[in-house]
Amino acid sequence: MLNFLRKSMSLLLACAAFLGAQALAADTSPAQQLSQWSAAAGKPGSAAQGQAFFNSKQGGQWSCASCHGTPPTADGKHASTGKAIKPLAPAFNPQVFTDSARVDKWFRRNCKDVLSRECSAAEKADVMAYLLSLKL
Ligand code: HEC
Repeated sequence: MLNFLRKSMSLLLACAAFLGAQALAADTSPAQQLSQWSAAAGKPGSAAQGQAFFNSKQGGQWSCASCHGTPPTADGKHASTGKAIKPLAPAFNPQVFTDSARVDKWFRRNCKDVLSRECSAAEKADVMAYLLSLKL
């Protein structure tokens, strides 16, 4: 009996540790990202501008839509590797925009691919407003 109790205790602790790690990774939300970028830009994100930005090339070979699809509510396909990419709109993929390090890493990388520079706070706020406007 005591042994059983001890076993369930350690199982419980293992679960708690696992949940703790998960909670750490999920340190932001789409709404939080939107308000953060809007504040940094000094204006609210515009879904219309975000949509136009997302769908157009910015001097390079690709637009955001080239890999993420348009609208980005279904699996996208990487423009050069063909690898599947999960939907970028939060209503269709609850995992996106929940881990700030991941969001920052991909924004940096993808913006460099599309614009040959990092995206501005205003551009990020616009894209976020657009993605949040896409509903199930
Ligand atoms: C060359 C292909 C490509 C292009 C172009 C591209 N992306 Fe991505 N993007 C990816 C891949 C691959 C991932 C990782 C997806 C995965 O792991 O399922 C990703 C992930 C992201 C994420 C991370 C979401 C999260 O929280 O997990 C954001 C934000 C993002 N892209 C925004 C953009 C924006 C904005 C543009 C246009 C400026 C863009 N991407 C253009 C390939 C691309």
